[in-house]
Amino acid sequence: MNLAGRWVVITGASSGFGAAAARAFARERCHLLLGARRKHRLEQVAAQCRADGAASVHASAVDVGVTSEVESWALDARARTDAVHVLVNNAGGAHGLDPVATARDADWDAMVQSNFLGLLRVTRAWIPLLPRHDGAWILNVGSIAGHVAYEGGAAYCGVKAAERSVTQALRLELNGTGIRVGTIDPGMAETEFSLVRFAGDGARAAKVYEGVEALRAEDVAEAMLWMATRPPHVCIDEMVIKPTDQAAFHKVHRRTTR
Ligand SMILES: NC(=O)c1ccc[n+]([C@@H]2O[C@H](COP(=O)([O-])OP(=O)(O)OC[C@H]3O[C@@H](n4cnc5c(N)ncnc54)[C@H](OP(=O)(O)O)[C@@H]3O)[C@@H](O)[C@H]2O)c1
Repeated sequence: MNLAGRWVVITGASSGFGAAAARAFARERCHLLLGARRKHRLEQVAAQCRADGAASVHASAVDVGVTSEVESWALDARARTDAVHVLVNNAGGAHGLDPVATARDADWDAMVQSNFLGLLRVTRAWIPLLPRHDGAWILNVGSIAGHVAYEGGAAYCGVKAAERSVTQALRLELNGTGIRVGTIDPGMAETEFSLVRFAGDGARAAKVYEGVEALRAEDVAEAMLWMATRPPHVCIDEMVIKPTDQAAFHKVHRRTTR
């Protein structure tokens, strides 16, 4: 379906998948409501979206870990529109790769607040603006980490498994409203994900992608847009998207470098 003139909300739009999704929906001439904590980065994305043809772009500093911020964001939006067609719940990421025995509370808290509770509270805040029987979407970003756990990923895999459960529960709760609920679950993608996971250690982050043709943020954004543009009677429940080089989390083909 044609999304021109429709309103799209994207969390975590200051980098990676969220920024690429913002630009993809901008090219469809959508109105964009972009949220993330780093306002200066959001403003850069917003400027690109305007150049790409967005109908309008509104960037808001929002921490999805804070209920009051999420609620005022959605409340403020009501002054602009009463109908949001697509909600992309993308904000999140991993913090640390430590086994449970030595992991830190602060990392667990950050992962639970953004990937899990953030997803719930953002959805609760925006549900009243999603029109009934008009092909609206809640598009959540999960991960292959939510399908199969790996060492050092107990909390991250846990919150992404929870994201799948939230997606399934929401689809049941909203059955009969015409609102579609789906999850897009990527494998390895080269964004700021690893830089955040390793607390700014660029060399360690770069190693993750060494010799691999990882997904680009644009690959995932394109898949999101494809999901969102299906006709209203079609719901893509789950999409798993991985680099060809990655058969499973731990099974990655790396080209050797000399
Ligand atoms: N890259 C991968 O390999 C991969 C694979 C599977 C799934 N994912 C998932 O894809 C999503 C996007 O990640 P990415 O790869 O695009 O990484 P990224 O470049 O680090 O982007 C993460 C985005 O989330 C935002 N964010 C994080 N915590 C937030 C909070 N508390 N409140 C508001 N915004 C918050 C960040 O913005 P601010 O820092 O400005 O707030 C940023 O815009 C995440 O849910 C991640 O778990 C990534």
